[in-house]
Amino acid sequence: MSAPRFLMCPPSYFGVQYVINPWMEGQLHHTDGTLALTQWSRLQQLIARDGEVLLMPPVDQLPDLVFTANAALIYQKKAVLSSFRCQERRPEEQHFKNWLESQGFQILTMPPGVFFEGAGDALLDRQQTLLWFGFGFRSDLGAAELVGQALGIEVQPLRLCDPRFYHLDTCFCPLTGGHLLYYEGAFDDAGRSAIETRVSASKRLAISEGDAIQFACNAVNVGSHVILNGAGQGTVNWLTERGFSVDITGLGEFMKAGGAAKCLSLRLDEV
Ligand code: ARG
Repeated sequence: MSAPRFLMCPPSYFGVQYVINPWMEGQLHHTDGTLALTQWSRLQQLIARDGEVLLMPPVDQLPDLVFTANAALIYQKKAVLSSFRCQERRPEEQHFKNWLESQGFQILTMPPGVFFEGAGDALLDRQQTLLWFGFGFRSDLGAAELVGQALGIEVQPLRLCDPRFYHLDTCFCPLTGGHLLYYEGAFDDAGRSAIETRVSASKRLAISEGDAIQFACNAVNVGSHVILNGAGQGTVNWLTERGFSVDITGLGEFMKAGGAAKCLSLRLDEV
């Protein structure tokens, strides 16, 4: 089997230049470019232990292009391209499209007026053939059905209720073997009960708010490795007991923009 492949984008033009989520409030122009590059490079090296990291060129004036999870949802050779809700991020779409096309992906797009933010909101389960789909802040509920039809995969929509967790990958992390980390406070009753029905209690961990705000759920998982910005000992122990090894790598500069490890990477060959 070939090594897993990930897309990343160097943070040459990264910064907080507008406010489109609560993490960005009070952070305008407050990022340190040197520190951001150091943090990003460490993450790249950690991911490169388990896979191949492909890079797309950064683009001036597109500070959030580093968050490649928002390029598209990748499923086999298809890429369902993002259609960003915030106009600040819409110019990224063309760059993501060009790169994915150059790699031979078949590009699928949303109809006009339907918002979808790629692997930020659409996460494949690692055990069942199921797509978990976050909606309410960025992606539309209508996009869930369209994506499911286009890819021929069952979709479980989950309404996001806490603006700090505006993308599903900020509060929900499917892991190898059907394990799951999630923050209950980000979901409504219907979402919580869907999660409890589909994932057995021994396989899921409802993390604390303290862990959630360190973006413990925004983890990159390859095989038994989990890479994340921060998590308490309880969460680390839970993972370790289930055979995972955890690498904590600080991504504070990117947290100022509302993203961490998972947001900064896009798995290109999960299925
Ligand atoms: N500033 C970016 C935004 O608000 C951060 C995106 C984080 N990406 C993610 N997949 N959660 O859109």
